[in-house]
Amino acid sequence: MFHPVVPVSVDAMTTSNGKVVLVTGASSGIGRATALRLAREGHQLVVGARREDRLAELAATAPGVDVRRLDVTDREDVAAFVDGAVADHGRVDVLVNNAGVMPLSRLDSLHVDEWDRMIDVNVRGLLHGIAAALPHFQRQGGGHFVTVASIGAHQVVPTSAVYSGTKYAAWAITEGLRQECDPSIRVTTVSPGVVESELADTITEAGAQEAMRTYRANTIPPDSIAAAISYAISQPPEVDVNELIIRPARQR
Ligand SMILES: NC(=O)c1ccc[n+]([C@@H]2O[C@H](COP(=O)([O-])OP(=O)(O)OC[C@H]3O[C@@H](n4cnc5c(N)ncnc54)[C@H](OP(=O)(O)O)[C@@H]3O)[C@@H](O)[C@H]2O)c1
Repeated sequence: MFHPVVPVSVDAMTTSNGKVVLVTGASSGIGRATALRLAREGHQLVVGARREDRLAELAATAPGVDVRRLDVTDREDVAAFVDGAVADHGRVDVLVNNAGVMPLSRLDSLHVDEWDRMIDVNVRGLLHGIAAALPHFQRQGGGHFVTVASIGAHQVVPTSAVYSGTKYAAWAITEGLRQECDPSIRVTTVSPGVVESELADTITEAGAQEAMRTYRANTIPPDSIAAAISYAISQPPEVDVNELIIRPARQR
């Protein structure tokens, strides 16, 4: 998808009162929209993904956003992403674990490589983010984890068994994190319904592609999810927004 280059105003990029916010999977869709919205709101964004051409376009659109190549399936890469942000900006206030893939298929199609990829990105990637940021949050005496899960963390439909499995796991890991953490560390799970993005492009199975065309007929823009993330991270320190489900009004 082509994204026109619309520079964000320098005034809007002021970071004097902003948080240092890290976003994984920011090269398209929800991650990109989150980076743009939070940068406009005055936060300092450090964002990553694998497609460097998309990251360069994002940096041109919002010059204050710090973009880095990142593969969340690589634990050392995620640690370097978080440690690098702390080295450059002195701290990390929010980590938005957003990167995800959704190659839906029936189990009897045995697309086992795609199952592995979903587990690697959607579950291991999340855990790598937690492992990288938690020590910094504990040392700083505060921080905020935001997990982008899915409506698939709350329901299973044919072809979504593995994807939903990864998102139920993301939900459970994030809830466990909330229970274990000191109250200075806040934890939010955001579960989107059908959002306009490139997510369905990863589906290779013809039947699942066809079913998704119907299922994804009504979408909301990715900025709807960015707005929810903005809401969660802008609450006062004693308020912990734990769970938000945002879906199109027309989605049943
Ligand atoms: N759109 C929806 O309807 C919807 C609904 C519920 C939940 N979600 C969730 O929202 C999140 C964002 O998805 P989206 O809808 O915005 O889809 P998208 O446009 O396809 O964005 C997915 C992002 O994840 C990144 N990514 C994938 N594999 C990665 C890896 N190994 N390392 C780093 N980044 C990786 C992609 O960047 P690169 O390919 O450049 O690495 C891309 O920036 C996902 O967790 C998804 O499950 C979306």
